[in-house]
Amino acid sequence: MTNTSPLSQTSRPGTPARPRRLLITAGPTHEPIDSVRFIGNRSSGKLGIAIAQAAARRGDRVTLLLGPVGTETTALADTGVVTRRFRTSADLQTLLVRHFRSCDLLIMAAAVADFRPKRPPAAGEKLKRSAQGLTLRLEPTPDLVAACAAARRTRHPQQIVGFALEPASRLAWSAKEKLIRKRLNAVVANPLETMDSDRIHATVYGFDDGRPTALAATGSRLAKAAFGPWLLRVIDQLPPHASPEGPISRPKGSSRRPVRPPAR
Ligand code: CTP
Repeated sequence: MTNTSPLSQTSRPGTPARPRRLLITAGPTHEPIDSVRFIGNRSSGKLGIAIAQAAARRGDRVTLLLGPVGTETTALADTGVVTRRFRTSADLQTLLVRHFRSCDLLIMAAAVADFRPKRPPAAGEKLKRSAQGLTLRLEPTPDLVAACAAARRTRHPQQIVGFALEPASRLAWSAKEKLIRKRLNAVVANPLETMDSDRIHATVYGFDDGRPTALAATGSRLAKAAFGPWLLRVIDQLPPHASPEGPISRPKGSSRRPVRPPAR
């Protein structure tokens, strides 16, 4: 694994031709409870936006699917990024269906809600406070990045990079597990403990000889502004068919049985 410099700085035969068509998702989803309330999360979308701008600056054609964040999109348009907005995971799913097929690389940085209210709110509905409290029934959202991976083109399959934000104690395990379960080319793993920091402490996991492996790490924490170009250089060095089509090896030390996370 390399430290601050990703893999190697020299280009390899598999290095993609430019311009590439990138599809990048960023920001949270808001899953409505009623017409004014929602289930959301703290994602600011800044990391995905920074990656989109870095890619556009180096000449890639970039479409950014951006969630409900307060970002002004005019500055994005000035750098050549085409932005489409979503609010719910269902909106994002619709946009992915529309845009995924024509991209070469999907970077799935959006913090998609894992659950949403089972009952969609009626238009104009606002729940009343009640002494009995309120019980919400939630259902899992579809795994959007896994669905994209399953729908890859057979000729020139798209590369797909996902994200993992987990406590440091189980970060490596979770990243490798997501890499395999979602059939991704790479997973960018960030420790939950550094979520509010203005520096990035990321490790990129991918396949090396069919085995999930840490391929590159930012090492000493990288400034957020430098992260986009760094990650794009790491992705450039990924083998084009990194996600195995056939049987895949589970994380080291595990068998084909369900893999248990390390004790918390
Ligand atoms: N993701 C997605 N669709 C979802 C949930 C997550 O596409 N419904 C994507 C995220 O954009 C991210 C990756 O999957 O790139 C990992 O997200 P995470 O929430 O950690 O994945 P889960 O599959 O929900 O894993 P866990 O059960 O560990 O939370």
